[in-house]
Amino acid sequence: MVCLGNICRSPLAEGILKSKVTNSEFFIDSAGTAAYHVGEKPDPRSIAVALKNNIDISYQRARKFVVEDFEAFDYILVMDESNYDNVVRLAESEEHRSMVSLILDWDKTAEVQNVPDPYYGGNQGFDFVFELLDKACDLIARELQN
Ligand code: 4NP
Repeated sequence: MVCLGNICRSPLAEGILKSKVTNSEFFIDSAGTAAYHVGEKPDPRSIAVALKNNIDISYQRARKFVVEDFEAFDYILVMDESNYDNVVRLAESEEHRSMVSLILDWDKTAEVQNVPDPYYGGNQGFDFVFELLDKACDLIARELQN
């Protein structure tokens, strides 16, 4: 799960998908394309919206996406088109490029294509992000477990 800062959207995506699959079968992690917040906990508003939905993400710490992630993972799900460009720019092969998808492309019914960056807005933005990711992660968990 990749966003820009790895403190708002991708930590939520990580926590939500983990809550929907059997942990021993899948390794799920998140990262940011920027290093601004490396080592920090998720944004308190992301921690709060997750807790409201019985998911604890407070143990997570931000890290930067690295080129080695293309080898370590099978799928790289990004939150928006800007994240997509930043990640694909680091890809060294067509195989790596093809691993990258917009997370909302997994939900054909999603009303938007990009998970909006909620960082500069209010709590409502975080509720909307949670709703989008929860629905997409239901479909992703189902597909991966099949
Ligand atoms: P995220 O949100 O990419 O969902 O973690 C952001 C967090 C921090 C900043 C931007 C977006 N920032 O500019 O510091």
